[in-house]
Amino acid sequence: MKRRFAILPGDGIGVDVTREALKVLTAVLADTSIELETKTFPYGADHYLATGETLPAAALEEFKTFDAIYMGAFGDPRIPDMRHARDILLGTRFKLDLYTNLRPVCCLDDRLCPLKHFTAADVDFVVFRENTEGLYVGVGGIFKKGTADEIAVQEDINTRKGVERIIRAAFEYAQKHDRKRVTMSDKSNALRYGHDIWQRVFREVAEEYAEIESDHLYVDALTMQLIKNPTPFEVIVTCNMFGDIITDLGAQLQGGLGMAASGNVRPDGTSMFEPVHGSAPKYAGTDRANPFAAILTVGMMLQHVGLEEPERMIERSIKECLEAGECTADVGGRLGTAASGDAVVRRLRSPAA
Ligand code: NAD
Ligand code: IPM
Ligand code: MN
Repeated sequence: MKRRFAILPGDGIGVDVTREALKVLTAVLADTSIELETKTFPYGADHYLATGETLPAAALEEFKTFDAIYMGAFGDPRIPDMRHARDILLGTRFKLDLYTNLRPVCCLDDRLCPLKHFTAADVDFVVFRENTEGLYVGVGGIFKKGTADEIAVQEDINTRKGVERIIRAAFEYAQKHDRKRVTMSDKSNALRYGHDIWQRVFREVAEEYAEIESDHLYVDALTMQLIKNPTPFEVIVTCNMFGDIITDLGAQLQGGLGMAASGNVRPDGTSMFEPVHGSAPKYAGTDRANPFAAILTVGMMLQHVGLEEPERMIERSIKECLEAGECTADVGGRLGTAASGDAVVRRLRSPAA
C-alpha cells in the first residue's frame, strides 16, 4: 500500500517545523507495509520574489492527485500584503473547496494548561471553522483610495449551502466520536443578516441529531467562557473569522501555538493539513520553533488517510516527550527544533514501558 503526500514547507519557521514533521512521517511509517511518497513544492515567499509566481493552476490540479497536502506556514515581512500566502493558503482552501477547518483543542500535559484550577483533562474540544466563506472570500473593494472620502467594503458571505454543510459536519463528527454537545457561536445579535442564517440553519440541523445537545453562545461570551471554564465544551462550530480567533485562543489553552494542529478537509477530495501557527519570522532558522504542532498535524493527516495507529503512536510519543521535558522552551524544555523532532522519533522507536 502506498500513500502520497504533497509537501509545501512555505516560509519562516514553516520550513524548520516541516523538516521535523517529515522526519517523523518517515519514521512512523518505516516498519509498516505503507510505502511513503512525498513531493516537495517550492511555493512560498522566496519563490514568489524570484519568479512572481504564487501558486500556479497546474500545481493545484496536481495536488488533487495526492492522498493529502501538507503545508508549513506562509508569511514573510518582505511581502506585507501577503499576496503569495493568500493565493497559496486561501487559494488551496477555496479552490479545493476544503470547507471544514478542523482544529482540535486538546491539552496533552497538565503543565501546559494555563488556567488556574484546571488540568489537561479539562481542555478537550474540537472547533469546526467554516473555511470557504465569510469575510475571507475577498468580495469587496476600495473606493476613492487614499482620499479623505475613501470607502472600504469587505462583504461577509454566508450561503445556505456553506453554513449547512459545516454545521452538519460538526454534528456528524459529534455523533461519530461520541461527543455529547455541539455549540454554535455567532454574533447574530449584531450581524442581523449574515448570522441570522446561522441561527436558523443550526436549529434545523440540530433537530436531526436529537441525541446530541445543541446550544449557542455569542462569540464574545464564548471566548470568555473558554477561559473561565473550558470543561463543558466538546464541539464548537462557527464562521471563518471567528474560528480563526477562537483557535488561537484555543491554541493557548493547549500550551501555545507550538502545540496546535489543524486540517482543512472535505470528505470526498484531497484535504490539506497545516499547523495553526504562522511563519513566526523572528524565529525562522534559529532552531527555536516548537515542531510539535507540525508533527501532531502529520498525525491528523495520517488518520485522515486511514492510518489510525501511526497517529496514536505520534501522539503518545509527543506526550512522552512533554513529560520528560524533551521539548522546546515554549513548552518547558531546553531542546531545539531539530532535537525535539529527534526525541519524538526516538520515542516512536522505543516507547516508555
Ligand atoms: P505566528 O503564529 O507566526 O507567531 C506568533 C507568535 O506565536 C510567535 O512570535 C511565537 O511567539 C509563537 N509561535 C508561533 N508558532 C510557534 C512555534 N511553532 N513554536 C514556538 N512559538 C511559536 O503569528 P504572527 O506573528 O501573527 O504571523 C507571522 C506571519 O505568519 C504573518 O505573515 C502571518 O500572516 C502568517 N500566518 C500564517 C499562517 C499560516 O500559514 N497558516 C497562520 C498564521 C499566521
Ligand atoms: C490561520 C491563519 C490564516 C487564516 C491567515 C494566514 C490567512 O491565521 O490559518 O489561522 O486567517 O486563516
Ligand atoms: Mn489564524
